[in-house]
Amino acid sequence: MTESPTSRAASLPHLRRKKLAKGDPVPPPLVMASVFNLPGDPTGFRQYGRFDNPTWDAVEHLLAHLEDAPAVAFPSGMAATSAVFFSLLKSGDRILLPSDGYYTTRLLAERFLKPLGVAFDLRPTGSYLDGGFDGYRLVFVETPANPGLDLCDIAAVSAAAHAAGAIVVADNTTMTPYGQRPLDLGADIVVSADTKAPNGHSDTLFGHVASRDPAAITAVRDWRKLSGSIPGPFEAWLVHRGLETLEVRFDRMCNSAEVIARRLKAHPKIGALRFPGLDDDPSHNLATAQMQRFGFLIALTLRSEAEAESFITGCELIQPATSFGGVHTSAERRARWGDAVAPGFVRLSVGCEPVEELWQAMEEALDLL
Ligand SMILES: Cc1ncc(COP(=O)(O)O)c(C=O)c1O
Repeated sequence: MTESPTSRAASLPHLRRKKLAKGDPVPPPLVMASVFNLPGDPTGFRQYGRFDNPTWDAVEHLLAHLEDAPAVAFPSGMAATSAVFFSLLKSGDRILLPSDGYYTTRLLAERFLKPLGVAFDLRPTGSYLDGGFDGYRLVFVETPANPGLDLCDIAAVSAAAHAAGAIVVADNTTMTPYGQRPLDLGADIVVSADTKAPNGHSDTLFGHVASRDPAAITAVRDWRKLSGSIPGPFEAWLVHRGLETLEVRFDRMCNSAEVIARRLKAHPKIGALRFPGLDDDPSHNLATAQMQRFGFLIALTLRSEAEAESFITGCELIQPATSFGGVHTSAERRARWGDAVAPGFVRLSVGCEPVEELWQAMEEALDLL
């Protein structure tokens, strides 16, 4: 029986209690150890820091609770995606990637999968179902896609991809398990950059893979152990701490994004604007059906590169930065990284600031354009 987001959020801070002995610290200890006391037969004991670590276990416990599936921690979102690709794909496989998703996933396929004999095709997220999935070993979805915020129907893609013999991997970074539940919708594997909202404090990179398929979990765990793509214990400890407040932060960020998106859309200086929570957004019906929340990212287009830069740097409550999901509102022009967007396109990540103060600061910056 799947829990609701609120019941999952309520039990999360109490998960450790069942394991505590009298006098144990309530928060998980940060265990910095490459070796463990290991005389004699090592079977069944902690052996070496590349194999496991108690602080990884603590953060994976929370992630598994949120995903309702076993989870394996990685040192970044891309390390999680790489673990899935390199542990499950082999020469001769063909995979499908979103043409409008996070660009590094495509670059990884081009630079490192293709030379190993794994071919890939690209398709826009908004028409992901068109053309079917025959011939694919793995179908990778990212919805809402970063940065354009188009959606695809995870349940429909999963059903069609499974019928064609493919596995479905969903990058859920833009939504977190509180905003969207790809495994419940039929995806086989979730990858996530916990660098973003799950950690939330812009001070560490992290990622995870979650799946209800034991073979997939074993494969990525073995990949981590053998490739050495391991998270640092301190990063795991920070993300554990971040996850304890994720629901509160995510709720504030999504609520504020709904208010800010509506007001920006009505502002005369703003051109196109995409936010799945707006009634007239092309993805609104699908968003309402498949997402628990509409997220905290807004894609907006100003008239020029110069106006976009002035808006970003001129607003006192916008941190100019790449990445998203921090407690501070942040924004950047995505064209500066080569994304196929207009020069004035801005990806805005709404943070935890009180919404009226945030809107006032944005309105003042827009008035100066
Ligand atoms: C959708 C998405 N997936 C994955 C990543 C990669 O995360 P990381 O930078 O932690 O490797 C990002 C980073 O921006 C992202 O936006």
